[in-house]
Amino acid sequence: MKNTILITGGTGYIGSHTAVELMLAGWDVVVVDNLCNSERLTMERVASICGQAPHFVQGDIRDAVLLDKVFASYPISAVMHFAGLKSVGESWQQAAHYLDNNVGGTACLVAAMERAGVRRLVFSSSATVYGQPDAVPIPESAPLRTTNPYGRSKLLCEDMLRELQTADNRWQIALLRYFNPVGAHASGLIGEKPSGVPNNLMPYITQVAAGKHPFLRVFGDDYPTVDGTGVRDYIHVVDLAKGHLAALRYLEQEGKGITVNLGTGSGVSVLQLVAAFTQATGIQIPYQIFPRRPGDVASCYAATDLAREALDWRAKLSVGAMCADAWRWENLVKNMQE
Ligand code: NAD
Ligand code: UFG
Repeated sequence: MKNTILITGGTGYIGSHTAVELMLAGWDVVVVDNLCNSERLTMERVASICGQAPHFVQGDIRDAVLLDKVFASYPISAVMHFAGLKSVGESWQQAAHYLDNNVGGTACLVAAMERAGVRRLVFSSSATVYGQPDAVPIPESAPLRTTNPYGRSKLLCEDMLRELQTADNRWQIALLRYFNPVGAHASGLIGEKPSGVPNNLMPYITQVAAGKHPFLRVFGDDYPTVDGTGVRDYIHVVDLAKGHLAALRYLEQEGKGITVNLGTGSGVSVLQLVAAFTQATGIQIPYQIFPRRPGDVASCYAATDLAREALDWRAKLSVGAMCADAWRWENLVKNMQE
């Protein structure tokens, strides 16, 4: 068997795209996912893109026995850890569950890795650890602070993993701070499937385009930004997935960990994204201005120097491609539901 990468949360949005890129690059992949926010069918979709399916184990990363069995069954050389709960709103309602799943889950995973002697880890962190940034673009050295239980769970995981690496230099850990992942695989076969009404901008736009909502609510037009609406660093999920391969190469070659932003370095406002969507698809998105959403920051985009210099990686896909691919995927979801 080839060297294998364990992907936790691999039937989810970012994990499935990363599974594709790893398999296309010749890696063997085993996925562990409890399917709490994804479907088994995604593995078949990944197989249609790559020509073969990843190994799939349905289970929870808090199940130590299951993890030991997985490490005993495959020649795993590194873990990419995506499994987690990610809704800021839900994290207020279910703070204990978020801590247990995200922080407890990560602790359980690293304990199993330690038992198996696998000490190379790529972790899904988030720009949420920067809270309200003092300035943009945000460098990795910016102060860390969070404003909600989800963000706190990511920061606690980062702290735990930093501690582990400091205490034992056999550990090689990449903490990847994602900005705003959007879009879908160009095949239209895999993408993001928000449950219920989406909180995030891009899936809401595609659902308006599909006629599921009459208009987009634009949360605030009085921010100190180019047009008053919130500015974010949208990154195509395929670029993001490729960033994970670059991080894995870094760990292998340098033999030490890294904390790095994965973003494009460009800020795009809500109204700019709406205009880009119309340009990419020809579909008008009706919108209305609403009050600011509590907890939102005006502007959040990444400093990307470290990713370029250390990982030799940069995001390449345009905002137009993000919109076109998100729309192709929305159409597939729509057709599946009809
Ligand atoms: P997702 O919900 O699509 O994927 C997460 C996957 O993890 C799901 O398939 C879910 O079933 C699985 N999972 C959750 N808890 C589990 C557990 N205890 N055991 C096994 N499987 C479990 O989310 P995503 O957008 O692909 O995000 C992946 C990771 O990236 C998450 O950790 C998230 O916090 C982080 N992240 C996401 C974003 C974003 O905007 N999507 C931004 C920054 C960071
Ligand atoms: N927005 C709207 N209308 C909507 C949805 C969003 O105007 O229906 C606006 C928001 O106010 C914000 C921008 O679009 O200005 C982006 O909002 P998203 O919800 O798509 O993304 P956020 O940057 O607010 O949140 C994301 C993740 C969080 C993470 C946060 C910080 O969803 O999990 O980035 O990293 F915590």
